[in-house]
Amino acid sequence: MKTIIFFNNKGGVGKTTLVYHFTHMMAEMGTKCLAVDLDPQSNLTAMFLPDEELERIYAQDFNRETLISGIKPLDRGVGDIAEVKVHQISAYIGLLAGDLELSLFEDKLSANWSKCVDQDEAAFRIISSFYRIIQIQAEKFGAEYCIIDVGPNFGALNRATIISADYVVVPMAADLFSLQGLKNLGDRLITWKTEWSERYSRNKTPDLVLPHGDIKPIGYIVMQHGIKERRPVLSYLKWANRIPAIFEEFVLKIPATPNKNIENDEYCLALLKHYHSLIPMAMEVRKPIFLLKPADGAIGAHYQAVLSAKKDFKQLVEIILSKID
Ligand SMILES: Nc1ncnc2c1ncn2[C@@H]1O[C@H](COP(=O)(O)OP(=O)(O)OP(=O)(O)O)[C@@H](O)[C@H]1O
Ligand SMILES: [Mg+2]
Repeated sequence: MKTIIFFNNKGGVGKTTLVYHFTHMMAEMGTKCLAVDLDPQSNLTAMFLPDEELERIYAQDFNRETLISGIKPLDRGVGDIAEVKVHQISAYIGLLAGDLELSLFEDKLSANWSKCVDQDEAAFRIISSFYRIIQIQAEKFGAEYCIIDVGPNFGALNRATIISADYVVVPMAADLFSLQGLKNLGDRLITWKTEWSERYSRNKTPDLVLPHGDIKPIGYIVMQHGIKERRPVLSYLKWANRIPAIFEEFVLKIPATPNKNIENDEYCLALLKHYHSLIPMAMEVRKPIFLLKPADGAIGAHYQAVLSAKKDFKQLVEIILSKID
């Protein structure tokens, strides 16, 4: 089982929408996936599950069918990780649902990061809790891949998640702040990796399986829906073509290759289009845009856009899997 996380500290670039569509396309192509919503905002969960189901789940006070049930005993200091329900979205998609309460676990994760240095077993159990939950549930579900969505920040929850993943894909917009965000992301990945490797070797509990922490950045996706009418395409290109050098220098930590642009950069996994009204149409019927049918309202030019989106996402899955395999 391999784990891919879509991460960037710039908010609202389309990460969750991407994770949702990527997971569905993997399923369409016959690969079993476990989608994991580790963003306390739980937008991915809201995309996958119908309103009545969401209402039912979040009305539960005890053993809520979200990731929070998996860490409750640890959080209360009365045990280790516990069972988390896998919501079966289809034969090929399972979901570990998000929970706003996950944000309350941030302080504990933060305090225990330091305690790992002191060889504290409980601290290692807390830091590795999501990793271990994901491994157990993915195996039970028979998932080949785990696709993780997180919030746009460098908090302790994201640190624990990042060290648990095998690969990171960076969805980004082409603007000044996204480039700044990419630099910060590169630095942060290196810091987290280094700090975890210092801690990892201090684990004195042989039966406690810890994440290796050696996450590999496989590339970035430029989300073009950020292009605003008042910001012309030229301005978009100006920022977009600065991404390859920053990705190499700050994320891969290698010297920037001269004369690279987004069209000829092997780390540019896709330029994802603005899908306009297909997105709200798809959200309304709780489907990815590429599965919209004329009966859902996708007729004429919309239907052509659906077919083109199907090609885009298929290509995206193929390119990401080729980088992994
Ligand atoms: N390719 C696209 N075309 C058009 N609209 C899009 C596209 N991708 C995302 N959006 C829209 O952009 C908005 C932000 O998307 P999304 O919630 O996926 O971003 P995010 O990066 O996960 O945000 P956050 O950082 O808050 O988690 C949503 O309204 C979504 O419908
Ligand atoms: Mg999101």
